[in-house]
Amino acid sequence: MGQVLLAAPRGFCAGVERAISTVEEALRRFGPPVYVRKQIVHNTYVVDDLTRRGAIFVEELDEVPDGSLVVFSAHGVAPVVKEEAGLRGLRTIDATCPLVTKVHKEAVRMAEAGYEIVLIGHAEHEEVEGTFGEAPERIHVVDPARPDELTAGGSHPMSWLSQTTLAVDETMQAVAELRKRFPQLVDPPSDDICYASQNRQEAITRIAPRCELVIVVGSANSSNSRRLVEVALNAGAGAAYLVDRAADADERWLDGVRTVGVSSGASVPERLVGELLGWLAAHGYDDVEPVTVTEETLTFSLPLEIRSTRNPG
Ligand code: F3S
Repeated sequence: MGQVLLAAPRGFCAGVERAISTVEEALRRFGPPVYVRKQIVHNTYVVDDLTRRGAIFVEELDEVPDGSLVVFSAHGVAPVVKEEAGLRGLRTIDATCPLVTKVHKEAVRMAEAGYEIVLIGHAEHEEVEGTFGEAPERIHVVDPARPDELTAGGSHPMSWLSQTTLAVDETMQAVAELRKRFPQLVDPPSDDICYASQNRQEAITRIAPRCELVIVVGSANSSNSRRLVEVALNAGAGAAYLVDRAADADERWLDGVRTVGVSSGASVPERLVGELLGWLAAHGYDDVEPVTVTEETLTFSLPLEIRSTRNPG
């Protein structure tokens, strides 16, 4: 019989819980349709479920009819998007994770203090687009895997910020590389990689060396889930794959495997992990050992617009 090492923490973080609850509460209080700009969190199951319940996901505000209610996703938005919503008279609720908002505020502070800001992250990711929008004339986006591509900067004091869901080790390596070329680069006052990303990475690092195979439940566009696959491989897993649902797992991955590691990204409902454990049990992997590196207790209160009794304006 095969063994499963079940990493913890895994699954929902406080920011994702808050963002999903925000849409649910908006549907309950104001009724459908509730428009949501971008996927509220990067998980196909969550988005499909909320769609069935009356949420309408759009890419941009021009798809939202005048007078409608629109929720901004957990990944944050650039100020220009909020301005556009204001000009259009849309009713808005901002479900940006408070830990993303913290990075936005830091970007504004640094820009006002005259720094050039190196934003380490994936340029196409919504979170990076949002943070970049706080000070586009001051921010240079650099991919964590390619810090050598930064060409600008050098004439001003420099500091750095990062996307909240990056791999910790890769980010620190990128900073070290950048500092070789820009010795004036100063560290931000606090880490940007959030507690949830760090804890999930630490847990998967703990189990990976004991696993011939690691399966991470998460959607392909989920940054923190994809990082978990990379971190598992770097930590010694024989192989590691990302699956949206158990149905995406492949029996051939199990050939010669005694121990399978399981984790899930911060936007993944626990029932999807349950599905995967059921699939593994059906293939003889029914000895499940939880491996917990820390307990998480953080919660965030809902956005003010949904806590108050007023209609959001
Ligand atoms: Fe926030 Fe981190 Fe979750 S930034 S949404 S707590 S993955």
